[in-house]
Amino acid sequence: MPNILEVKDLRTYFFTYEGVVKAVDGVSYELEEGETLGLVGESGCGKSVSALSVMRLIPDPPGRIVNGEIQFEDEDILKIDMNDMRRIRGGKIAMVFQEPMTSLNPVLTVEKQITETLELHMGMTRAEARREGVDLLARVGIPDPDKRIKQYPHQFSGGMRQRVMIAMALSCNPRLIIADEPTTALDVTIQAQILELMKALTTEFGVALIIITHNLGVVARYADRVNIMYAGKIIERGSAREIYANPRHPYTVGLLRSVPRLDLPRRMRLDPIEGQPPDLVNLPPGCSFRERCRWAIDKCATDTPELIPAGEGHLSACFRAEELGDLIKEVVAEEARKFGADAESEAAPEPVASEAVASEENQPGEDG
Ligand SMILES: Nc1ncnc2c1ncn2[C@@H]1O[C@H](COP(=O)(O)OP(=O)(O)OP(=O)(O)O)[C@@H](O)[C@H]1O
Ligand code: SF4
Ligand SMILES: [Mg+2]
Repeated sequence: MPNILEVKDLRTYFFTYEGVVKAVDGVSYELEEGETLGLVGESGCGKSVSALSVMRLIPDPPGRIVNGEIQFEDEDILKIDMNDMRRIRGGKIAMVFQEPMTSLNPVLTVEKQITETLELHMGMTRAEARREGVDLLARVGIPDPDKRIKQYPHQFSGGMRQRVMIAMALSCNPRLIIADEPTTALDVTIQAQILELMKALTTEFGVALIIITHNLGVVARYADRVNIMYAGKIIERGSAREIYANPRHPYTVGLLRSVPRLDLPRRMRLDPIEGQPPDLVNLPPGCSFRERCRWAIDKCATDTPELIPAGEGHLSACFRAEELGDLIKEVVAEEARKFGADAESEAAPEPVASEAVASEENQPGEDG
């Protein structure tokens, strides 16, 4: 499939009194038509800023895109004027925000909001737009769409508001949808339903999707490829299957171990990453994950690891990427000894990077 989006060396900084916050610092990736990409990392690593940069929605001041190229279809997003950008935004690229109440207008009915975009971007008449609006609400699973379309956002539950947002995102036949933490405010069952729905609709319409989340379990299940972000950079990139079965960066290993997994004994399942991400204003030299990395070596304090190939279609920014599989096995064996009796009474422990994780009966993220 041809690429629909190509981001090259994107740098988005915030110029604050405390200094320059390098929120996105040299990010490059591409997205194919119809592909689902997961963008994963802890709070503050630059996920939203990188998405907002693609939409050119960075508040200026204090923010500015200081470098890079964002090629979307045949347009260079960073070079076009704001009128053209408005045409793309809400037209070819749609965004679903984390908290729907902040992006739905509380004083307008859903009908007004949905038909307005359809009239503006699709050139429909009021009556056509209304029919299309009802149809879209039905598609995203809102019961009684004829009646519900006349209601205000506060009359919908959190999950239903998310569905309205998705209907609005789909309303202009976008080629790309960016969903920023689309589900964290919802309970897990509704989260799964919403993601299931987004995945089904994007597959049906051949729309590319970027899912932003903290939870690697979520993307392992829904994404084709994954970008792992840390301190403003992509530090690992690969297919969801590869990342899950064969992580090549210690931070990714930490993320995998901090989501619940059924393939590991209960006491070994959750292991949050210790320590805090570095201050984006004063990034220390060397690898920015160093302070939290159990496998750091001297070189990590002085040299910055580049994102380089670490397998088929797999990239990692770690000096020890090649050895990581063995290093993980050592840790897992050590833990198995430590948890000894407890672990024995449960399923046999499997290393995070084991083949079993990616086997057919154990699909990525089935438990996440
Ligand atoms: N308007 C702003 N002014 C100054 N700094 C900002 C601004 N917006 C974002 N930042 C900084 O940019 C960095 C990246 O923020 P971003 O919102 O992209 O994080 P995130 O990965 O989306 O986190 P979360 O998971 O919490 O949503 C953070 O350090 C944040 O403080
Ligand atoms: S480069 Fe060094 S500090 Fe950074 S993740 Fe790899 S081993 Fe750890
Ligand atoms: Mg965010």
